[in-house]
Amino acid sequence: MTRAAITGLGTATGHRVVTNHDLAAVLDTSDEWIVERTGIHERRVGGSCLELGGQAAKIALKQAEIDATDLDLIICSTCTPDQVFPAVSNRIQNELGASCGAFDLNAACSGFTYGVTIAQAQIAAGMERVLVIGVDTLSRFTDWDDRTTAILFGDGAGAVVLGPSRRPDRGILSTYMGSEGRFADLLTCDFGDYIKMDGKEVFRQAVRVMVAASQRVLADAGLEAAEVAAVIPHQANMRIIESAMKRLGIPLEKAATVLETTGNTSSASIPLAMDAAVSKGAVSDGDAVLLVGFGAGMSVAAALLRWGQ
Ligand code: UT7
Repeated sequence: MTRAAITGLGTATGHRVVTNHDLAAVLDTSDEWIVERTGIHERRVGGSCLELGGQAAKIALKQAEIDATDLDLIICSTCTPDQVFPAVSNRIQNELGASCGAFDLNAACSGFTYGVTIAQAQIAAGMERVLVIGVDTLSRFTDWDDRTTAILFGDGAGAVVLGPSRRPDRGILSTYMGSEGRFADLLTCDFGDYIKMDGKEVFRQAVRVMVAASQRVLADAGLEAAEVAAVIPHQANMRIIESAMKRLGIPLEKAATVLETTGNTSSASIPLAMDAAVSKGAVSDGDAVLLVGFGAGMSVAAALLRWGQ
């Protein structure tokens, strides 16, 4: 089967920095509490999905050295679209000057990995250039007077271009998409309302589903946890990442994180963390890299890939 490999990566974040101290000035909270319970120091807010997603996509296309007109498909993962319709992907397609098909998907914070999984299937079926964007503007759905949620979220986007790997041992090795709808009420946002969340229970379930999904893609690819060079997890809470890594038996140093400065950016968090890992030189050619996301739904998705093309 043809494997999909990442050929370009781009990111963007909201332009306004909101620090924990800014929040502590208006809410009954403190920098110490937020850092200790979440690992977040600041978040970036502002911008539409079109602006942020378009910006990230342009960087990814440039890095992949392809023109937008060469794209076969655009998949945009978002749970905070600018409009009910048209899809954000249609607007980004126009902004890029592409002529391919485009659609949005909503699997909350697991959406980027869902998108990568669908891209892999399309590439195996013959497509050559698929753009997957993860973008969310959760600040628009955050009650900034609610200290239990306002401290968590930020706005951002990440995009990757995927194409058939040039070497058979590079690219996506295995993928998993899961849903546990019985936990749908743990994290919700109704029309015209703000994010509502049972944080403690989301935390508990998140660790469980992340570990199960990760073990599944490892088993499907015939790899041991010890062979994983880098884990790129959804960036919701440092303690969730710590618990999941511990249960997987993978040292915490192998987890890529960016939440310290971005907060939880939902669909954008995995590509943002991937970008941080690449910039740090934490992933190199041939490395086994594990992407794992979870979110409202409760949705979960994982993808194991061999870095390089
Ligand atoms: O993409 C998925 C999105 N969501 C998540 O991943 C959320 C997962 N859950 C979490 O990240 C954590 O549950 C939170 C960060 C939301 C909360 O941390 P926690 O350690 O579970 O705290 P808690 O809810 O048990 O609250 C402990 C105490 C409470 O006070 P009492 O009842 O012990 O007196 C809260 O009222 O901390 C209080 N508290 C705060 N104190 C200062 C809650 N929020 C704050 C705050 N500042 N911002």
